[in-house]
Amino acid sequence: MPKRPQADDPTDSSARAPQVRSRFWQQLGVSSETLPPERLARYVQYVETVGHEATTAATHAGTLADLESVRVRYLGREGSMTAASKAIPDLPPDARPRAGRVANDTMTAVNAFFAQRRQDLEAQAAARQAGAQQLDVTLPGRGPLIGHRHPLMTTLETLLDIFVGMGYEVFTGPEVEWAHLNWTALNYPPDHPAMDEQDSFYVNDQVMLRTHTSPVQIRAMRAHHADSCPVRTLDWRSPPLEALSHCRCRPAPTRVVVPGRTYRRENVTLTHNDIFHQLECLLVDEGITFADLKGTMATFVREFFGPTIPLRFRPDFFPFTEPSADFSVGCEFCEGKGCRFCKDSGWVEIGGSGLVHPNVLIAGGYDPNRVSGFAFGFGIDRLAQRRFLIEQIRTLFDNDMRFLRQF
Ligand code: FA5
Repeated sequence: MPKRPQADDPTDSSARAPQVRSRFWQQLGVSSETLPPERLARYVQYVETVGHEATTAATHAGTLADLESVRVRYLGREGSMTAASKAIPDLPPDARPRAGRVANDTMTAVNAFFAQRRQDLEAQAAARQAGAQQLDVTLPGRGPLIGHRHPLMTTLETLLDIFVGMGYEVFTGPEVEWAHLNWTALNYPPDHPAMDEQDSFYVNDQVMLRTHTSPVQIRAMRAHHADSCPVRTLDWRSPPLEALSHCRCRPAPTRVVVPGRTYRRENVTLTHNDIFHQLECLLVDEGITFADLKGTMATFVREFFGPTIPLRFRPDFFPFTEPSADFSVGCEFCEGKGCRFCKDSGWVEIGGSGLVHPNVLIAGGYDPNRVSGFAFGFGIDRLAQRRFLIEQIRTLFDNDMRFLRQF
């Protein structure tokens, strides 16, 4: 048998109903003196305010559990909206229809709002769970991105291996160089037209970005004097023909390769850039002839390009070598047939070469009557272009990862 409600049972809500209702009206500031129209006005205002509060609280509920506690606060058995509906019988009979309508409409709107909010929160929770399930803990961890060698550097390393294998020492000099070493010490007469071919960037009258690696010839030769020889401490700007007169030793042979960056004021084309790299080779010793130059060059070209590559020497002019020659290899893009890259000649110029001019030997502190030497220098970028079949030289400096990842 169901238990009958007892008037003094504090757990029985029907027994507590009159107290709840009187608390409700107290909350609205309504007493027995309040006139009926005023009661109705306060009732309507209360219901609308609480309805608004309920939807705001539902909007801020971040989880389904939060939403449920908001719902109980407003729509539960003892919620504020429920209390308002239960208080309608306390209003005068002619005010009840309006109060009922307002309470009903507000409850319907609030209920619909809660239902929509519940759906949204359920969808969010489902998406979160799906995301969490996508985490595959068996996948291997992400390692740090490891870069790789730039095509220019791999080309340079191959070249250095070849020359070091032939007994050459790697020697370097500054990119910002004395104009004196870039030109005068290399036997360029003042304002010689050959300087026009290597238009450059000057820091001031005496200092410039070097246009080639050849000034390092002077630095390398002077470095091969004995530690105590005054040539080692000569001012780099001393007149070029003086170094020999300062020499107090018999300098050791110089056998160096000089890699480095060089600069020229150039119009950029497929094969010309205003910043590029050169490799200089210098050998100074007793009895060096053009045959040594050709032998060394042929060995390098065979090792680098393969045994069947054709090599061509043509007379040329450089103030710091005599005789001088430029050297070219067969074009690999068109295999000698002629193309845009080789300007239809079938040949690609690699560099310049020659026997070291006596004045340059003197500037290095060597006696040209005792020793002779050969030198050659070429562009590393153009070799990288050929090696990796890169059409435009400037792409080597663009630092575009889509390009660099290919090598
Ligand atoms: C020289 O620079 C001489 N110093 C080479 C030399 C050394 C001659 C020793 C004799 C003895 P040249 O200006 O020709 O020479 O340049 C040599 C090579 O550098 C060219 O054949 C080419 O391969 C490369 N080079 C020159 N200018 C550019 C440029 N603007 N962009 C890319 N490579 C270039």
